Amino acid sequence: MLTLPPFLLLLLSIPIILFLTPQLLLPKTLTAITTTSDLDELDDLNLFQRATTLSSPDLTSPVSTHKIAFLFLTNSNLTFSPLWDLFFSSHAPLLSVYVHADPSSPFLLPPSPSFRLRLIPSKPTARAHPSLISAARRLLAFALLDDPRNAFFAILSQHCIPLRPFPSLHRALFSPSPSQSFIEILPPKPSLWPRYIARGATAMLPEIPFSRFRVGSQFFALTRRHASLVVRDRVLWPKFRLPCLPSSKHSCYPEEHYFPTLLSMMDPKGCTGYTLTRVNWTFIVDGHPHLYSPEEISPELVRKLRKSDSGHEFMFARKFSPGCLKPLMEIAKSVILKED
Ligand SMILES: *[C@@H]1O[C@H](CO)[C@@H](O)[C@H](O)[C@H]1NC(C)=O
Ligand SMILES: *[C@@H]1O[C@H](CO)[C@@H](O)[C@H](O)[C@H]1NC(C)=O
Repeated sequence: MLTLPPFLLLLLSIPIILFLTPQLLLPKTLTAITTTSDLDELDDLNLFQRATTLSSPDLTSPVSTHKIAFLFLTNSNLTFSPLWDLFFSSHAPLLSVYVHADPSSPFLLPPSPSFRLRLIPSKPTARAHPSLISAARRLLAFALLDDPRNAFFAILSQHCIPLRPFPSLHRALFSPSPSQSFIEILPPKPSLWPRYIARGATAMLPEIPFSRFRVGSQFFALTRRHASLVVRDRVLWPKFRLPCLPSSKHSCYPEEHYFPTLLSMMDPKGCTGYTLTRVNWTFIVDGHPHLYSPEEISPELVRKLRKSDSGHEFMFARKFSPGCLKPLMEIAKSVILKED
């Protein structure tokens, strides 16, 4: 901070002064600024800073009243909102819903959902690009700040559907003690090398040696402690936000590496190592998993998708094409959201 010329420091401070509450002005905010050179990130840093310093968990209320924050990261309408509406209905006190809708894509609010949905300030996102990580961090920070009772934070997309009723999910998340984050962290593999060097051979060093580099799904459910850890991170993020080299564009999936690497480095014991979101990678088309079509939807499919080798059944699944809404709604009450 002391090495910055005064005029630059002043310039950097202006947006902060405009946005910040006075008690936060010094000195933490300035420390954060010096770790990035990207002015465009200032409002994010401001949000993350506030989430880090102002949000505090509700430690007094019983676990049975803790909330799940559903964080939708979308670049289109929420096609399956009628199904989510059924899933959420009558559980309002136990949930919050936040949506990061890519401003460069059309987005229409679902017609009068029973749940209260918060649209958060969003920026454009692109697949296989650090903007997806930024969007997820923005959702986490917003949800941390918004409600001290938000205790779990589940990232979803417009292609995700629930596979079990809400009470099953709540029990699965809150019954283990101490609670762990449900995030896939796959064992290290030599085949990750091209992804590790996608930004240059030494770009990740010294913070992240190859032996600590991990891969996993970007669809996870984090504890409040881990959500806060992600939002606070100033060490790994500058590495993962670097653009990939043009020659590495087929090895560039920062969103599949950032979260598993960070959490496995910071708190491996606090993570289950598996995700609750089922995805079908049997045949990969252009890096995409199987996209279910309406003809494939059946009670048997839902039961099959729930099955898991981990300690828990899968609670969510992706990806479903918009046409699946109708057949899914037909089996919503009798199968998907039925308590057994
Ligand atoms: C979003 O929904 C509106 C209204 O139903 C529709 O006109 C529009 O095409 C949809 N956009 C996308 C990207 O599906
Ligand atoms: C996974 O996708 C393949 C097509 O890529 C399909 O044949 C198979 O039935 C799917 N598996 C499940 C469990 O849905």
